[in-house]
Amino acid sequence: MLDRLKELGSEARAALQSAADVVELESVRVKYLGRKSELTQVSRGLKDLDPDERRSVGMAVNELKKELGVLLEQSKERLESAGEASAGLDLTLPGRMPWVGGKHPLTRTYERLESIFRGLGFEVALGPHVEDGFHNFDALNIPPDHPARDGWDTFYIDDEALLRTHTSPVQIRVMESRKPPIRIIAPGRVYRNETPDASHGSEFYQLEGLYVDRDVRFGELKGVLIRFMRELYGESVNLRFRAGFFPFTEPSTEVDVECLICQGTGCSVCSGTGWVELLGAGMVDPRVFEAVGYDPGEFTGYAFGLGVDRICMMMTGTDDIRLFLENDLRFLRQI
Ligand code: DAH
Repeated sequence: MLDRLKELGSEARAALQSAADVVELESVRVKYLGRKSELTQVSRGLKDLDPDERRSVGMAVNELKKELGVLLEQSKERLESAGEASAGLDLTLPGRMPWVGGKHPLTRTYERLESIFRGLGFEVALGPHVEDGFHNFDALNIPPDHPARDGWDTFYIDDEALLRTHTSPVQIRVMESRKPPIRIIAPGRVYRNETPDASHGSEFYQLEGLYVDRDVRFGELKGVLIRFMRELYGESVNLRFRAGFFPFTEPSTEVDVECLICQGTGCSVCSGTGWVELLGAGMVDPRVFEAVGYDPGEFTGYAFGLGVDRICMMMTGTDDIRLFLENDLRFLRQI
């Protein structure tokens, strides 16, 4: 009996190892371990054996069953993973990271600007994109027929309505609805009817600032802008304040930052000058206060407007403003 079990064992081992697929393996299982298998029959017959034989055969049967059970599992695993591989599934390949979306570089830039200005005591105000001539121009001391009006190439919707050409009309709306002190930033998209090129978009983002109170001085404006630029670009940033002209501020200034892409040596972003104009600013013109019903004898203030896209270009090393609107993932994923 024990010899027969040995024979049975080597037969079963060979059959388990040579099974070519899981179907064949299953028939091997049925044959050697199934209810009608020889092994099962020997187990059943144990009770008819005399006690000594019963013990030794019983042990041998149990051992063999155990061993074949383990071999069966191993063969099953081997055949299953081979089956998966031939079905094109290779479990040894490294995992693939799912691609998660991210904020647009302009959004991230704006959020950085907002947090700096909030830290300086400014709150956020918003205004409509479809404006009227009064808020976009007249109240900002740019009357109809004034040549300065040509400075903003405007998309007109009809005789009354236009797409705002800058965020400055939000200054007017805030002052119309509140009394000083006012300290706001007004971010948002603006529109210009001009042919886009590497540094001009027909739509882009601005961030307007306005502070109105009693006794506001130009020195405070300069201080806030320098603080802002240093927060944004680091303490060693080089700035240049130039005299400028805007109808809604007097005196006015334009602020340039040394080009961070070429470190001032000249490149396509700074048109070879080494400097990039980032913002316009100045003391609010008394005519603007009159337009919103403030007494220019009582209140003074400063305003500024900066180009978010320009700042984003400098921060990301992007040399074409149009890339921000094209939503080309190959570009966006690099930033
Ligand atoms: N609105 C101006 C523009 O679009 C930018 C600007 C300049 C805003 C000076 C201001 C300012 O508030 O004081 O070109």
